[in-house]
Amino acid sequence: MRLRTSLLACTLLATTVLAVAGNAAVAAPTRYEAEAAVCTGTIDSNWSGFSGSGFCNGTNAVGATAQFTVTAATAGTATIGVRFANGTTTARPADLLVDGVRVTTLSFEGTSTWTGWTTKTTTISVAKGSNTVTLSPTTSAGLPNVDYIEVDTSTPVGGNGSPTDTNIQYYGRWNRSDPAYFSMGWAGGYLDARFTGSSIGVRQRNMIDLYYSIDQAPLQWRRGVSGNVSLAIGLSGSSHTIRIGYREKAGSYTGDPVFGGLILASGAQTAAIGRPVNFVEFIGDSITVGQPNADRPFTAYPWLTAEGLGAGHSQVAQGGACLVSQDCFGMMDWFRRSSAWVSYDDWNFATYQATAVVINLGTNDVGHSVTSTQFQQGYVVMLERVRQAYPNAEIFATGVFRARYVTETRNAVAARNAAGDGKVHFVDTTGWIDPATDTSDNVHPTEAGHVKIAQRLRPILDQYI
Ligand code: GCU
Ligand code: CA
Repeated sequence: MRLRTSLLACTLLATTVLAVAGNAAVAAPTRYEAEAAVCTGTIDSNWSGFSGSGFCNGTNAVGATAQFTVTAATAGTATIGVRFANGTTTARPADLLVDGVRVTTLSFEGTSTWTGWTTKTTTISVAKGSNTVTLSPTTSAGLPNVDYIEVDTSTPVGGNGSPTDTNIQYYGRWNRSDPAYFSMGWAGGYLDARFTGSSIGVRQRNMIDLYYSIDQAPLQWRRGVSGNVSLAIGLSGSSHTIRIGYREKAGSYTGDPVFGGLILASGAQTAAIGRPVNFVEFIGDSITVGQPNADRPFTAYPWLTAEGLGAGHSQVAQGGACLVSQDCFGMMDWFRRSSAWVSYDDWNFATYQATAVVINLGTNDVGHSVTSTQFQQGYVVMLERVRQAYPNAEIFATGVFRARYVTETRNAVAARNAAGDGKVHFVDTTGWIDPATDTSDNVHPTEAGHVKIAQRLRPILDQYI
């Protein structure tokens, strides 16, 4: 099964490459020297190895930019290389904006010396004619020294927006066995894409509540939609980003959380979009889903915590889930499934690796006669299995907010630490929320309760990832 999937991926890739080769305009990259750009700082020449007559030494401040004007013969995807030197040991991150719209953040790591010039490459979408490309530093150290940018418009790696389009970045457990409709398992799965053109829509199958955001605007709902769904028209600018996610299928809700592809404007295409280095997987029950709040998953603590860290995330969670008991989604087994509605361990953990895993389980086991001993032993097995699934992840076992099996949770972590796994941490959540004011029913946090949890959890994760 796995082999067939990867063969399919190869075939698709080969087809794409052929198509690209057939359409590609032949052109070498064009170099734009920093001394001809708008540099908020000085054009210097004291560090050798630069090209042309100098480099941009930006003022050491947030927003002290270098701005280039790039000309493209046709609209499409372009590869951009930024040649820089950062003689410090601290990265100098900067946003890369095209026509004022942020495309990505480049990290510009330290290069040890100011003569250690190196090139950072990424992909952007350009409009026909002139485009401004701006490097805007996000920390007070400002930009590294910038020698030039090179833009290659002969790499049209645009995709067609279909579910198998490799420009689309998926987060969470997606079942990809049907190339026409990728199906979101569990809760809180989403996808990010970049696209050109002035309109965007999404192809659905049966009825579903979906949420989306264009160009990082606040997420909004389109509830009860099916078929072809138009999300925006009349967009200006050369390229845009979109995030789409779906309400989880669980309990009495049987919506169809599938992604059938983006509906692009005529002649438009997708382009590559970045993926954060960190990915946090949250494993839990209704609290981790964010039930019963209407704007879950994005008002729930997992989403808030990970977004605050600039990390990707998923909520492998289900209302009523236990850790141990098999009559209530015993997550020590079920977390190895692609969704709560498959009956065997089908998930391929090689699809993505979490850099952190947060477990919040134990609230429901009480109602299923799980003994203290069973819970603790089960938790140790769970921690072993998570380690097997994610060999390098930092694992956080959180005491549940209703203070059930907290000692057992702590003991399980201690057992794994004693067995040599130092990247497993117990998180004491005592006092994080007040059941009287921060929950709707003594169990489920309100939106404000979720914010409080995220505010406590985020700095803990931040110490490790
Ligand atoms: C030094 C170096 C400059 C550099 C600056 C900085 O002054 O000579 O070229 O721009 O450090 O830290 O930004
Ligand atoms: Ca400088």
